[in-house]
Order: sequence, then structure tokens, then C-alpha cells
Amino acid sequence: MTTDGPEARDTAGGPEAHRTAGGTETPGTAGGPEAHRTADGAQASETEASGSVGETAGARVAAFEAVDLTRSYRLEGVSVDALRGVSLRIDQGEFVAILGPSGSGKSTLMHLLGCLDRPTSGTLRVNGTDVATLDDAGLAELRNQAVGFVFQSFHLLGRTSALENVALPLVYRGVGRSERRERARRALSAVGLAHRLDHRPSQMSGGEQQRVAIARALVGDPKVVLADEPTGNLDSRNGQEVMGILAELNAVRGVAVVLVTHEREVADLARRRIHVRDGLVELDERSGP
Ligand SMILES: Nc1ncnc2c1ncn2[C@@H]1O[C@H](COP(=O)(O)OP(=O)(O)OP(=O)(O)O)[C@@H](O)[C@H]1O
Ligand SMILES: [Mg+2]
Repeated sequence: MTTDGPEARDTAGGPEAHRTAGGTETPGTAGGPEAHRTADGAQASETEASGSVGETAGARVAAFEAVDLTRSYRLEGVSVDALRGVSLRIDQGEFVAILGPSGSGKSTLMHLLGCLDRPTSGTLRVNGTDVATLDDAGLAELRNQAVGFVFQSFHLLGRTSALENVALPLVYRGVGRSERRERARRALSAVGLAHRLDHRPSQMSGGEQQRVAIARALVGDPKVVLADEPTGNLDSRNGQEVMGILAELNAVRGVAVVLVTHEREVADLARRRIHVRDGLVELDERSGP
């Protein structure tokens, strides 16, 4: 894989507007996974907090709006056109599967949506903010506040407890230690790991590690979770469990879920399937209510 750079950066997140610092929310309800806030409520608070979202609070801003997105990689003078003009809109609360053959550009697209990387050309708005208007610190801030990212290979810190792994993104938001730990504890409870807080990744099963990674993605209370083959390294039972958590997150908390998968049963859980081929969207199909 060639994606270690941006993936590694994601774990650290970035500086963050202090959503809990003022306003109406108390720290206890601001961002825990089981705080049942609506997508719109979260939108309003983030709009106020960041000041960089280009729409008024309460307006229905797309989670992602991409127009003619390209991404080319340069390798020893040779250019690889991983994305060749992708346009799509993903709304708040959607559950989308991204499908396509190996090398078709799925991870490249996910990295752009997750603000881990920038497009070569085209326009990408994340929560209404055009990423081209942001410097690297601004992009990191948007990433930290807007999305949670789950990777196929978990990307946890190996010698750090589950609790501290999950609490880490909150460090970059300036959240104090005791609140970080409390929110991390709640996030881990939400994925069924209240009994594994002090375990290190090497002391956990693959399914447990991926649930820690999901808890880490959730601890900042993002409106979107991006998951790149989250079940790819899991057996079918653990894979089903992880998918159940993501599906519930979408159904109960209204978090938009965008996931890459090669598995038909996983894709069938999504209400929308975007098929990518040779760096282009080949088919965008919807089903269900
Ligand atoms: N950092 C990079 N440098 C150079 N080329 C890259 C880089 N990352 C990806 N590519 C190339 O871009 C194309 C798309 O890669 P990408 O990782 O997006 O594919 P994918 O659809 O996620 O595949 P898979 O299903 O195997 O994960 C591939 O041809 C790949 O070799
Ligand atoms: Mg990939």
C-alpha cells in the first residue's frame, strides 16, 4: 500500500475549534457517542464553532460535494491518474458503499473526502467548505472536526491503551484530560468494549481492535464516518459485528457512513452504491426507502 503517509497523519488529527468551550452544550453531552444529537444539531454547533463553514446554521449542507475531482500521483516522472474526474454529492445521514476493482481509485477518493489529501484539480466541499480555501492547518482542523476515519488495518498506536488511543483526537481539540478519558470511555462502551479500556492493541483480537478504531473515529462526534474496507482484515463474525456498529450509528445517530468494500453482503447494507472504475464513477445506484 502506498497510503501510509496520510493514514498515519489521520490518527493525530489536528487542532480543533472548541465545540464544548462555550454555548449551550455541557461537556458531558457534547460529543460522547451515545449523545443522541441530530445531524442538524451537530451541524449548527459546528458551524458556530468553526466559523469556516460557508452556510448558515440549520441549512442542509451536503457532507461532500465533489465536482470533476482528479488526483494524479507522480512517480519518477510517470504520472498515475488515480481519479480522472469524479463528481458526486453525499448528503448528511446517507449510508453509501464504494465499490470497484483494485486500483480503481477508491482509497484515493476516500483520502480526498477525509481531508487526508488534496485533489489535483476539481472542487471539493466538505460540510460546505471548499478545501482549496484552506491551508494545511485549516485542512487538519476540518478533518478533525468533520470526519472520523476507519482503516482496514486499524492504525492504532500499538503500545498505548485502548482508552488513550480513543482519547487522542480530543487532545488536538484542547479537551481536558478527565473529559477526554470520560468521552473515550463512553465511546468504547458504545462499541461494546467497556471491559477492555486498559488493553493494548496487541492484547486484543482483530475485531476488538477495529472496534477501538471505530470508537476513536466517533469520539469527536463527527457527522461522517469514512471507512476504507473496515472488515477487510476480519473474519466474518467480527466483520458482521463491525458492520452492525456502523449500521446502527447511521440508523440511530444519523451519522453518514461511507465505506469501501469488496463484499457484496456488506454493500447490500448500504442504501446507495457508488461503483468506481479506472478513476471514474461508473454507476451510482440507490435502493430501499
Ligand atoms: N501514493 C501513491 N503514489 C503513486 N500511485 C499511487 C499512490 N496511491 C495510489 N496510487 C495508484 O493510484 C491508483 C488507485 O489507487 P487506490 O489505492 O485509490 O486504489 P483502490 O481502488 O483503493 O484499490 P484497492 O481495492 O486495491 O485498495 C492505483 O493505480 C495505485 O497504484
Ligand atoms: Mg484501497
